[in-house]
Amino acid sequence: MKKTVIITGANRGLGKAFVDVLMTIDDCFIISLSRSVSKDQEEFSSKKFQFIKTVLSKNDIQNSLKMLKNTISNEAIYFINNASLIEPIIKIEDIDEASIDDILSVNIKSTMLITSFLLKNYDSNQVTFVNISSGAANRPISNWSLYCSSKACIEMFFKVAETEYQQHRFFNINPGVMDTNMQKSIRESDFPDVENFKSFQKEGKLKNPIDVAKDILKTIQIIE
Ligand SMILES: NC(=O)c1ccc[n+]([C@@H]2O[C@H](COP(=O)([O-])OP(=O)(O)OC[C@H]3O[C@@H](n4cnc5c(N)ncnc54)[C@H](OP(=O)(O)O)[C@@H]3O)[C@@H](O)[C@H]2O)c1
Repeated sequence: MKKTVIITGANRGLGKAFVDVLMTIDDCFIISLSRSVSKDQEEFSSKKFQFIKTVLSKNDIQNSLKMLKNTISNEAIYFINNASLIEPIIKIEDIDEASIDDILSVNIKSTMLITSFLLKNYDSNQVTFVNISSGAANRPISNWSLYCSSKACIEMFFKVAETEYQQHRFFNINPGVMDTNMQKSIRESDFPDVENFKSFQKEGKLKNPIDVAKDILKTIQIIE
């Protein structure tokens, strides 16, 4: 059966790894809701890959949803909620309003809007919702208040969605620590547990995003 996979933040890190794996699969059409395309994605066939420029922090998700509506029909749909902001990594007393707005838009609001749009418009499709979560959703880390709380929020949002829409599938998946820019910016930040994160890199504990993408795509049964 034809599959359309919608991925946020698909230009680098884990999001790009999902695209790299999915490009090798037949009957799979990928839609990237991202701020940019990677160099290799510029060359991808429009039969397999569509880039819809989306700045998740700028409240322009409605335009992207209109474009999705023109693209999707009765195929199986997968939504991979991948894009996420971890910065600023600072104490709560130092948080400013602009940072709260950015985290809420990227990590929470856009996810809620895309999920609501798909549930409303594709009732008779098979829809699989995949939230790329984090251990931080369930473990408080000093100076990570915005990230931890936003990850916890979407985990609960998906759990509630699952109770309302039992005909669809919902997954909250913690990918584990991976070798991406997010880990680099964590290591460069100032917070009490930073040495622990530096040790993940020194001890070779960071996972390759391609391996993580394959594991998750197996879990949701897009690949075997
Ligand atoms: N890396 C880890 O160790 C780790 C651990 C646990 C969970 N996770 C989760 O795994 C997922 C992927 O993380 P990653 O490590 O691949 O992160 P990453 O390397 O920092 O990539 C983040 C992605 O989000 C996009 N993004 C950020 N702000 C955006 C905005 N305003 N509008 C549109 N896109 C935006 C980025 O696009 P730009 O290039 O345009 O900024 C990028 O594609 C995230 O949900 C993260 O919370 C990661």
